[in-house]
Amino acid sequence: MNLILLGAPGAGKGTQAEVISEALSIPQISTGNILREAVKNGTEFGLKAKAAMESGALVSDEVVIGILKDRIAQDDCKNGFILDGFPRTVPQAEALEAMGVNIDKVVEIYVPDETISKRLSGRRVCEGCGASYHTDFKPSRVAGKCDKCGGNTVIRKDDEPATVLERLKVYHEQTAPLKDFYAKRGKLETVIGQEEVSETSKLTLKAVGA
Ligand code: AP5
Ligand code: ZN
Repeated sequence: MNLILLGAPGAGKGTQAEVISEALSIPQISTGNILREAVKNGTEFGLKAKAAMESGALVSDEVVIGILKDRIAQDDCKNGFILDGFPRTVPQAEALEAMGVNIDKVVEIYVPDETISKRLSGRRVCEGCGASYHTDFKPSRVAGKCDKCGGNTVIRKDDEPATVLERLKVYHEQTAPLKDFYAKRGKLETVIGQEEVSETSKLTLKAVGA
């Protein structure tokens, strides 16, 4: 099954993608995580992406489409995948169609902007493996340390309040039109992502038929 999770920054795409990935045994593909890894490693893609990411803007369609194409060609994607953070523009969605990828379902996780700003101020991410936590809603067992790899958990650079506002603006202008794009194709399902993580997981799993 090929799935897309759509939603504003901080709506919980990454959190729910992890749950679905486990339930359906298909990989989670986060373009944000791939890009952050590229920035950390100083690769050519990373150098191109860094400034855009830190300002809350989108990385160019050309770069992201290239990354995605390479990733879904890998062996572990044979039985399906969950896209978390891609597509983010209409040209990216069109590129996916042009690759001949059939998407079974697009789940929008809807959370109002006010909730997003509060949520992202408490997010912490692992420097080592990228795992995501929240100081109030999903704390790691030992404060400041990752449960999975023991790495330090830190505030993501683009979670600074002014950058979050910019990311929300970019989402409404450039990504929200994808709701119409997929609704027209009969693939869109919206779940409310404002309740606690486990409640949203139930709704999301139901939406994908798991
Ligand atoms: P990306 O990493 O994709 O960031 P994003 O879309 O802004 O999404 P987030 O990771 O911030 O949030 P999320 O929805 O995954 O929420 P999470 O589960 O972590 O992209 C970063 C940047 O990369 C972009 O700005 C852009 O520059 C670039 N980029 C990436 N893809 C691109 C593309 N396709 N095209 C162009 N550029 C691209 O949850 C957030 C927090 O809330 C966590 O702390 C979590 O624990 C907590 N939480 C989750 N659910 C709940 C809940 N129900 N209740 C309480 N807390 C919750
Ligand atoms: Zn870790």
